Amino acid sequence: MKKIALLFTTIFLVCLSAKAQFKTNLDTDWRFHLGHAANPEKDFNYSIATIFSKSGGATKTAIDPKFVDTTWTKLNIPHDWAVDLPFVYSPNFDVESHGYKPIGGLYPETSIGWYRKHFTVTPKPGLDRYELQFDGIFRNASIWLNGFYVGTNQSGYVGVSYDVTDYILTDKENILVVRVDATQYEGWFYEGAGIYRHVWLNQFNNLHVADGDFFVHSTQNGKKATVTLETTVTNKNFYPTNCTVSTYIKSREGKIIGTTSEQKLSLTTNQQSTIKQKITLSNATLWDIDNPYLYRAVTVVKQNGKIVDQQETKFGLRTVAFNGQKGFFLNGKPLKIKGTNNHQDHAGVGSALPDDLQYFRIKLLKELGSNAYRASHHAPTRELLEACDSLGMLVLDEQRLLNSSPEYLDQFTRLIKRDRNHPSVFLWSIGNEEGWIQKNDFGKKIALTLLAKQRELDPSRTSTYAADMGNEFPGVNEVIPVRGFNYRQFAVADYHKDHPNQPLLGTEMGSTVTTRGIYEKDPIRAYVPDQDITAPWWASKAEEWWSLAAVNDYWMGGFVWTGLDYRGEPTPYKWPNINSHFGIMDVCGFPKNIYYYYKSWWTNEDIIHISPHWNWADKVGQPIEVWVNTNADDVELFLNGKSLGKKVMPRNSHLKWSVPYEPGKLEAVGIKKGKKIITSVETTGAPYRVIATPNRTTLKANGTDVVIVNLSIVDEKGREVPVADNRIQFQLMGDAKIIGVGNGDPSSHEPDHCPESAWQRSAFNGKCQVILQAGKTKGTLTLKATANGLASETITLTQSN
Ligand code: GAL
Repeated sequence: MKKIALLFTTIFLVCLSAKAQFKTNLDTDWRFHLGHAANPEKDFNYSIATIFSKSGGATKTAIDPKFVDTTWTKLNIPHDWAVDLPFVYSPNFDVESHGYKPIGGLYPETSIGWYRKHFTVTPKPGLDRYELQFDGIFRNASIWLNGFYVGTNQSGYVGVSYDVTDYILTDKENILVVRVDATQYEGWFYEGAGIYRHVWLNQFNNLHVADGDFFVHSTQNGKKATVTLETTVTNKNFYPTNCTVSTYIKSREGKIIGTTSEQKLSLTTNQQSTIKQKITLSNATLWDIDNPYLYRAVTVVKQNGKIVDQQETKFGLRTVAFNGQKGFFLNGKPLKIKGTNNHQDHAGVGSALPDDLQYFRIKLLKELGSNAYRASHHAPTRELLEACDSLGMLVLDEQRLLNSSPEYLDQFTRLIKRDRNHPSVFLWSIGNEEGWIQKNDFGKKIALTLLAKQRELDPSRTSTYAADMGNEFPGVNEVIPVRGFNYRQFAVADYHKDHPNQPLLGTEMGSTVTTRGIYEKDPIRAYVPDQDITAPWWASKAEEWWSLAAVNDYWMGGFVWTGLDYRGEPTPYKWPNINSHFGIMDVCGFPKNIYYYYKSWWTNEDIIHISPHWNWADKVGQPIEVWVNTNADDVELFLNGKSLGKKVMPRNSHLKWSVPYEPGKLEAVGIKKGKKIITSVETTGAPYRVIATPNRTTLKANGTDVVIVNLSIVDEKGREVPVADNRIQFQLMGDAKIIGVGNGDPSSHEPDHCPESAWQRSAFNGKCQVILQAGKTKGTLTLKATANGLASETITLTQSN
């Protein structure tokens, strides 16, 4: 009897784990060549050969399956070809704001990219439908499979999927060709160029639930959650088909905790039908920023009792509420939004971020004390949302353009359908600073159309719009459920008085410009002091906005512009400055001093931090302005053991002393609730050695895992030399590769990519970063970092299964 029971359990599990959608990653082994936007011959005859006159033709071009691409560069996706281009000076605003890379209409020879990929696919019984999924290409990408035109995706940010069933060859070579046209910009910041997110081949049944066609949302009543599961089934069989649809929910630990009944559906060819089912969970665990608990919903489509389509979706249970007087509530509890805006590029890799870097960046922001991320000003990648779901970071998910044309409504639809199951997404944004229309009827009408679309696709959330407007109502603000303020923090109180019931959010705040480790304005090298003192005319210092947002309940909080520096927008300077200074951290994620301001008031940790460094050999006897960022109650400062006085720490502010410089040790002793918290800076000796700190020491031998190694130049006593700029050479042994180097210097024109055996980067104010990517062989990796005249460092990493 026992044996029979065991057998039944086994069969049951096998059926449930049958994977009825098959996903193959197509990131590896692409061929790449630049085309030409102004010379058809250099663009593989693109606009002189007839491409669209006959189906499956396109001979004489690189689209032709027979085209020989063996001389093209071999590479893997994600790829951003802008990273490899030199920095070029141009007085053109768009070139400047894109980080002085020769991309755009002025540079026809470096703005078109051709990609080719040869692949084979093995047919799988019952999975007769084939789909190509592109998660993100910058931009205007036209795609052909085996010479057949498949489609064009204008968006540089929202991905696209195409059914290629009729063109794909099974058990034979397929040729996938993508022509990427980056001559047009979508933003005023670095946007990269190329296939910079994953590519997939999906195989599934003719009867299936398409990507984005499953929507899970819930209502909570105490511990009880009512989960609504909306499943849209598509029938691509050439005959009417009957099926059943059901969903079950698994806990994080994999235990099935709720199941719907199997609901019958009859679908004619090409018909789509949506069913709504409900599961009640009596003892639900909520998703929260501190406990980001994720459930799994498994949708099962059966035909004649057999599973034909099955997929698992992670989701979380949580409530969000917005109140005009009391701010934001997560799961019924007030939560001040301590957010950051971010663009998507990182040091060394541009826009082509391996998935691990998404987690790395979100972890850095969590450590800062931030609880929310605004994907400014466009759709984030899927993996960023996964990182936010699993690490506990709220996301403001943004549409690129305030436009309701079919193209942009479609982009908005794809964005919402892709992202609506992510618990981290707490609010949609329909746009940002649309100066031509935000105050008039165009803006209002477009907003109404987008808001109606949002409610149709996701009634469980609402929307904001990032307005660079003060106490002004006509236009978008009249109709937007959550008023977003970009800057103009001084106008928030008056606006609130006039519109007391409209919830208020700082969609862009701060915008202080700082260069890590710099203490004097330097217009030649284009550096600004690393203190909360410089903000452009439209912006504010950190203290100005946060001291208002922190104490007024009607402020939901806000998003600082930005969490990390990014390429482009070199405000307040131009050339030779090639990246922004707005970040709380630099492009590598190294903290600037303002980091400690925010961390003091955004966390309950004991924070005490002194700036500047204490290496001022040429300033002996001269006054140095010393800042202390802390959340202590009071602070006493000591120079070489002598007290420089005690000061009471005002909330949401900082402390300052003027200290005549003498080398030695500057120490700050804070008292926080009766407890001492101490920090110091010391005059260091000369650079003596390199030290390397990896973010982890083991990586998977899967060809994709990433380790981020931070390098420091230290003196003989191991203290980082804050002005060191030694050039560091890297030698990597083992089956892995370096994929980028950076140092956070916003004016550095050193390459992010180097020839295989010559990887190097100068330190900037003591630090730089190297990013390694795993190979597929198990074993040991060693990274040796050397700098002329300094002791070197070798670290060992383990690559395993
Ligand atoms: C805002 C804009 C951002 C960025 C920022 C710099 O006006 O929305 O994209 O340009 O200014 O302060």
